[in-house]
Amino acid sequence: TLTQAEKAAVVAIWAKVATQADAIGAESLERLFSSYPQTKTYFPHFDLSQGSAQLRGHGSKVMNAIGEAVKHIDDIRGALAKLSELHAYILRVDPVNFKLLSHCILCSVAAHYPSDFTPEAHAAWDKFLSSVSSVLTEKYR
Ligand code: HEM
Repeated sequence: TLTQAEKAAVVAIWAKVATQADAIGAESLERLFSSYPQTKTYFPHFDLSQGSAQLRGHGSKVMNAIGEAVKHIDDIRGALAKLSELHAYILRVDPVNFKLLSHCILCSVAAHYPSDFTPEAHAAWDKFLSSVSSVLTEKYR
């Protein structure tokens, strides 16, 4: 679980990220699909070319879910319950991919807000994204 200081760091950066959530979401997916092309196999029905409407739409949905998790940082499990069932039972995304996407979101946040991305902020976001990923993969077992 996140400490009070870590929660505060996540919330503070989210306030900035939220203003550019769609762009950061799309960029995170672009990073995911170009650095880890095997992740594209989950999206055979998508046009994954850079800047496509589907990529932007999906990036926006993903960041919206991250925003819900920030808003309910003391109950991420409750906030993402539906998404957890979707990823485990319907989409069946291999849990390793959550680490890859989390890394790409971190990179995008760092690239957009370099001076806010202190080592402490980095660690807090890493821990937060890992909590989100745990929630989204825990129904598998
Ligand atoms: C769908 C969030 C990780 C593959 C979704 C949706 C959201 C979401 C909000 C839309 C659900 C809906 O339409 O009701 C997240 C979050 C993640 C995450 C917050 C982790 C931080 C992943 C990973 C993969 C993945 C790692 C695979 C590499 C998919 C697929 C869909 C989906 C294939 C369905 C897309 C469609 O057909 O519209 N996800 N996701 N997700 N996600 Fe994830």
